[in-house]
Amino acid sequence: MRAISLFSGCGGLDHGFHQAGFNIVYANDIAPSVKATYEANLGKIDIRDICNVNEDELPDCDLILAGVPCQPFSNAGNRGSMADKRGTLFSQVIRIVDNKKPKVVLFENVRGFLSSKDDNGQPMPERIRYELKQHGYNLYFKLLNASDYGVPQNRHRVIMIGVRDDVDAEFIFPEPREDKSTLTVGNVISLPIAKGEKQEIWNLSPQSKTIAKHIPEGGSWKNVPYEALPPRLKKIRNNMQKYRSPNFYRRFGRNEIMGTITAAATPENSGILHPLEDRRYSVREIARFQSFPDDFKFIGATTSQKYKMIGNAVPAVFALHIANKIRDDLF
Ligand SMILES: C[S@@+](CC[C@H](N)C(=O)[O-])C[C@H]1O[C@@H](n2cnc3c(N)ncnc32)[C@H](O)[C@@H]1O
Repeated sequence: MRAISLFSGCGGLDHGFHQAGFNIVYANDIAPSVKATYEANLGKIDIRDICNVNEDELPDCDLILAGVPCQPFSNAGNRGSMADKRGTLFSQVIRIVDNKKPKVVLFENVRGFLSSKDDNGQPMPERIRYELKQHGYNLYFKLLNASDYGVPQNRHRVIMIGVRDDVDAEFIFPEPREDKSTLTVGNVISLPIAKGEKQEIWNLSPQSKTIAKHIPEGGSWKNVPYEALPPRLKKIRNNMQKYRSPNFYRRFGRNEIMGTITAAATPENSGILHPLEDRRYSVREIARFQSFPDDFKFIGATTSQKYKMIGNAVPAVFALHIANKIRDDLF
């Protein structure tokens, strides 16, 4: 089972597929900061803009993994969709699929993808279905939560599986696991750090540190007294209805499941505050929330780049569940 991985990042998705028995024969990402990490854990990666990679240069494969950047479809950012240049990265994947004709192609994207539209106003999932059909693939897609598959984090992602239409098999998404009792923040942070490993932590800004001091375990900015808020947050507090009652500075408690780890790792929007100490979670702690094994190394990048690549990743264990199902149903 030979796989090409596009938009590989530090390799969360690839780690899961590798564990399930897929052989990653080519990986690509534009960001030089992921190279050392990817190569220390998985194998060679080609650092180039995918737009500049000729499909004839790539080896044959049975599967293409495409963790296309989520920004154009994210609710958090500017939802430019296909009009955004990154939206066209989907077309780059289609170009390579068309040349390699793998059995299966997998796309991963944020929840906001489901309500995004292309530049003709067509819902993105339907657009992708149409594009794939034109190239001989049937599309299966579903919104899944990583915590239903053993990952200690609530992270909703759309998984789209294109299956070449001569494959005589149906894909069924894996069933959620029922017991989530072990997935708490407390369980994740109580595990000891490997001997000799230094805790690497991205410092909070002085303002975030001051705000954090007012927030108890399990709380949020709602616990911060008005006088202690910076002017921007005072303005929002003054008119919560207008701003739709945002839940900034969420500090998850040890008995809760962690919220979505983000690439930006801002305390305001990502639940990145440690429950007991006024600091961000460390690189290893967020890697655990993303279900990377403790022997997965993050190297050759700045601390904030590490937060970014980990936040961008598909949780490794979530990827493994999907990979096992693809292997069993389609290979
Ligand atoms: C959502 S992340 C992928 C995460 C990865 N699948 C994982 O599981 O760890 C998207 C990646 O696309 C890469 N990227 C963005 N534009 C690109 C381009 N034009 N060519 C190649 N890679 C690109 C980014 O550097 C980023 O690492």
